[in-house]
Amino acid sequence: MTTADDIFDQSGNNIQQLGLREIPFTESPTDLQSETLQNIFTGRQNELRQIFNLFQSRERRRILVYGRLGIGKSAFLLEVLSVLRRKRQDMLTTYISLPANLDLATTALIALARAMPDDEWAQRQLYQMGIPTDKVLKERSAEISGNLVIGGKLGEKDLPITKPLYPAVSLDTLLERAQEKYPQGVVIAIDDLDKQNPSVVRQLMHDAQGMLKGRAWFMLTGHPMGMTGDLLTSERGLFDLQLKLEELDQPTMYQMLINYLNSARINNNCTDPNDPRSVLPFLPETAQRFCEVSLGKPRLFNRLGNTILSTAADFQATLITSEVLSQGLKAAAPTLRQQAALNVQEERVRALLQRRGSLSDETITMEELEQLGVRSFSDILPFLERLEEADLAHQLNQDDAKVFAPIPLPPSDDETL
Ligand SMILES: Nc1ncnc2c1ncn2[C@@H]1O[C@H](COP(=O)(O)OP(=O)(O)OP(=O)(O)O)[C@@H](O)[C@H]1O
Ligand SMILES: [Mg+2]
Repeated sequence: MTTADDIFDQSGNNIQQLGLREIPFTESPTDLQSETLQNIFTGRQNELRQIFNLFQSRERRRILVYGRLGIGKSAFLLEVLSVLRRKRQDMLTTYISLPANLDLATTALIALARAMPDDEWAQRQLYQMGIPTDKVLKERSAEISGNLVIGGKLGEKDLPITKPLYPAVSLDTLLERAQEKYPQGVVIAIDDLDKQNPSVVRQLMHDAQGMLKGRAWFMLTGHPMGMTGDLLTSERGLFDLQLKLEELDQPTMYQMLINYLNSARINNNCTDPNDPRSVLPFLPETAQRFCEVSLGKPRLFNRLGNTILSTAADFQATLITSEVLSQGLKAAAPTLRQQAALNVQEERVRALLQRRGSLSDETITMEELEQLGVRSFSDILPFLERLEEADLAHQLNQDDAKVFAPIPLPPSDDETL
């Protein structure tokens, strides 16, 4: 009889048949060790150069990195920080994903305090906000055995946070303490500003003007819709650099695939794009095709890569031939839909988009709006954005109009529109 343990082993064997230790694709770079990110991070040379040029000056800067959903903002930010950590050891670098319901000063305060585990005062600030650090947990375990969040990962969801009374003042005090130890300065990177609704973001930015002009380097990320276009213009003076991340080109995608595969491949570390062994278990043609359907979007690439390799493993394939690739791509659309767990309205918008091939303010009809129960195209933007987040739709690059299209994946056999 086949036990669950056997199935587990079989599943590992199937991946090994492909010559891989594991599936190297991930949804989010925060799941990765920084050495792993260093090995797989690809491209963005121009953007890196622009940022690192700023770091050649002593003057503190404010940097905004923006781009569409899943384009690689977090990975870029983390890569910048890990380079700084290696090259600028007298600089303190901190990273945080903006928690819900928090202002930027409190967020910056948390990021900084967590990066200073040996500073009693910093740890007390965290403690007062109900955020344990390993150190505090150990030292005061008797006191806080109660209902606190465990683990250092400060996530997207609400935390039991009591806001400090004067976050800006506390932040300033903490920055002063940090700068004594890190004479080259302090970098505070706040990711995911766009995960809040646009009016909240605008308010947050407005309230943070003083902080942003203060003692630290700031790097913020968001995508244009969340950040709202007018924010980029109205707060123009606020940032020294506004860096837009675009889709990666095909040769970069191909190199990215090589880097990912190489990070997991057994017995072969070829990274020369001219050598077919560099893309094994893919063949050069299927590697090329996979990169094309990923549309230059790193997260779509990771999600598709995952389904392709899982499908290949299920088939106990040793190579990703055209046949295996098309089975993998066929499995992708239903998998993405399942992961997205769309609600009824989102599903309606998806079906309409699929049927129409593209949607914009100009092409949507009154009748279609009526059927969706909305008044205008802008009412369905949040749904389209939700689809984009799930890699079921993408926004076409047309500057003045918002045009959305479905991700062109082959229909699965059981597709119902
Ligand atoms: N230049 C790159 N090289 C290699 N992998 C990358 C690169 N950019 C992004 N990735 C990978 O692609 C996936 C999606 O990227 P990431 O999460 O950084 O996008 P994002 O723009 O932050 O998305 P979101 O809008 O959801 O915050 C991650 O697994 C990340 O590690
Ligand atoms: Mg991100």
